[in-house]
Amino acid sequence: MTTIGILGAGEVGSQIARAAVGCGYTVVIANSRGPETLADLVAELGPSARADTAAGAAAAGDFVVVAVPLRLDNNMPVRELAGKIVLDTNNYMPWRDGHFPVVDSGEMTVHELRQEQLPHSKVAKAFTHIQAPRLLTSAKPAGSPDRHALSVSSDFPDAVALVTRLYDEFGFDTVDNSPLSESWRSGPGQPAWLAHEHQTREQLASNLAGAQRPGRT
Ligand SMILES: NC(=O)c1ccc[n+]([C@@H]2O[C@H](COP(=O)([O-])OP(=O)(O)OC[C@H]3O[C@@H](n4cnc5c(N)ncnc54)[C@H](OP(=O)(O)O)[C@@H]3O)[C@@H](O)[C@H]2O)c1
Repeated sequence: MTTIGILGAGEVGSQIARAAVGCGYTVVIANSRGPETLADLVAELGPSARADTAAGAAAAGDFVVVAVPLRLDNNMPVRELAGKIVLDTNNYMPWRDGHFPVVDSGEMTVHELRQEQLPHSKVAKAFTHIQAPRLLTSAKPAGSPDRHALSVSSDFPDAVALVTRLYDEFGFDTVDNSPLSESWRSGPGQPAWLAHEHQTREQLASNLAGAQRPGRT
């Protein structure tokens, strides 16, 4: 039985937990306020789920989803995430998180910053350009016409392979937009992000190719 650690139990973390339990995974989920505040969600998810601290969920996961906005004062359990594939759902939202000058200038992507903060993990950008409720409502079996596609970016081929398998199990096709330095192509405001309601693999590949780099345009 594979266990997914999920840090963040908001819009995205809770929907990924629902999809994961539906696909037969065990889930250990955390927020910032403590496991006792997640009793209702855990009851809804059923016996395959439990809540823990962020460090506990990171330690329990065979791989881990970080569904928490990135902060420059690294608030992730770096030691417990070491050696693991980490799926980062973060979108760069300066109005929410403040401006990160190296991202604004185009020097680094926000996911390269996450990788820098987790130097012993294998970070993959995943689940960033789909509205959380659509993780359940847009899912379709493999081979369905018009199946919705999602992008993945990572510097590690085994992380890309894991996300590709997970997307397929959840009901989505994949377009590989690696490495992390290319992950800006699916960022907020870009065509792939704006087409979050629906895009096939071909449409997503074309939208990624048509992105305009912020800070360099
Ligand atoms: N909403 C969407 O449809 C969507 C889609 C794709 C990507 N995203 C991106 O994914 C990220 C998460 O979005 P969201 O909408 O799920 O946000 P959200 O609803 O605000 O949830 C954020 C979660 O992170 C938790 N958290 C904060 N700091 C933490 C820490 N240090 N350790 C563990 N948990 C912590 C919060 O816990 P507390 O509540 O206890 O503070 C909360 O459960 C954002 O970067 C967002 O831009 C969102």
